[in-house]
Amino acid sequence: MRILRAKDYDDMSRKAANIIAAQVQLKPDCVLGLATGSTPIGTYKNLVAAYEAGDLDFSEVKSYNLDEYRGLPGDHDQSYRYFMNVNLFDHVNIDKANTHVPDGLMEDYEAACAEYDAAVAAAGHQDLQLLGIGNNGHIGFNEPCDSFIKGTHCVDLTESTIQANSRLFDSIDDVPRQAYTMGIGTIMGAKMILVIANGDAKAQAVHDMCYGPVVPSCPASILQLHPNVVVVADEAALALCPAE
Ligand code: F6R
Repeated sequence: MRILRAKDYDDMSRKAANIIAAQVQLKPDCVLGLATGSTPIGTYKNLVAAYEAGDLDFSEVKSYNLDEYRGLPGDHDQSYRYFMNVNLFDHVNIDKANTHVPDGLMEDYEAACAEYDAAVAAAGHQDLQLLGIGNNGHIGFNEPCDSFIKGTHCVDLTESTIQANSRLFDSIDDVPRQAYTMGIGTIMGAKMILVIANGDAKAQAVHDMCYGPVVPSCPASILQLHPNVVVVADEAALALCPAE
């Protein structure tokens, strides 16, 4: 794992966007695995700015998002499809037909999840997978549990995640209790993984991801076994990591 220290959120966002921009420039028809949440908003802003400056062309890019709340339609303002449209897709020249987010309303979800994995594989797997990290070490919505689940699947969100995500809903009762997420195997299939983290609430999770034992109780720890991971984190998120 390579750890790049950022001064603050803006610095993290710029550094992360530069890495994604280089990927798009070097391979215009690349496959990006994308994340939602508060962490990548600044990264996406920088990518939009680079596109507006004429430095990036997304016309051949394909994307696969990590996750989606179960039961939310794509036009719900808390759905991850909506988030991606508002924060990135509506502002760059990506073909929406090439953007994929698990369908929160999928009916036969086991078949649909298997199809999602098959589509990621058929596209050649992610050239670059962007990840945030949960306070509890989750990646995607792979919550701490007893085993690493390989494929895209339905998960019960933990109280800690429901609590953390309730800030975006009118009330905690409105937060969906389940979600669909790429599994650990689908994430690990990426050729390169870029993890971004900021703020002291992430410090323990970032430490455990980089230096803890590889255990499913900290799902992000599996990334230690991937050959090409870059972590871009600010000082607060790196506070418990040794200075290198
Ligand atoms: C979102 C996702 C989650 C978030 C994580 C951190 O697509 O996969 O794992 O990356 O919950 O969320 P924020 O960035 O809001 O702290």
